[in-house]
Amino acid sequence: MRTVAILLLLLPMSLAANEKNIDPQTGLVKNPGWLHVRSHCGGCHSHALVTSQRADRQTWLDMIRWMQATQNLWQFAPEVESEMLDYLAQTYAPMPNRRRAPIPTSLMPSRDPQEP
Ligand code: HEC
Repeated sequence: MRTVAILLLLLPMSLAANEKNIDPQTGLVKNPGWLHVRSHCGGCHSHALVTSQRADRQTWLDMIRWMQATQNLWQFAPEVESEMLDYLAQTYAPMPNRRRAPIPTSLMPSRDPQEP
């Protein structure tokens, strides 16, 4: 009972700790470079389109080039673009493969040859 009460007291603290690094306005993680992304990536669509995406650096660059070629996205100074790509590739990196490895054959039940 007492443990539960202590855990309930600690819960808001741990939530606050997590939220500290997230900008409440845009939902962007405040890692280095995030201000560029705040300024340049929320004008046409929500920043949520950015934060819900996961990609490596090249794929982020491809998306920017695609928006520049087809969606009127403006050009960036090379150092601004590079900082944005660093930010995006580090903060919104591809998810690790979450599928578990196959079960080794040695751990699988042996097949009864009499069964169909
Ligand atoms: C000039 C307008 C404009 C700006 C500024 C802009 N985008 Fe986009 N972006 C678009 C449009 C239009 C789409 C397509 C939206 C849709 O499909 O609803 C899009 C789509 C996306 C997508 C989804 C791509 C996909 O394959 O699903 C991502 C991610 C994205 N933008 C990231 C960014 C980032 C990062 C920036 C800042 C560097 C940015 N956008 C700035 C216009 C823009």
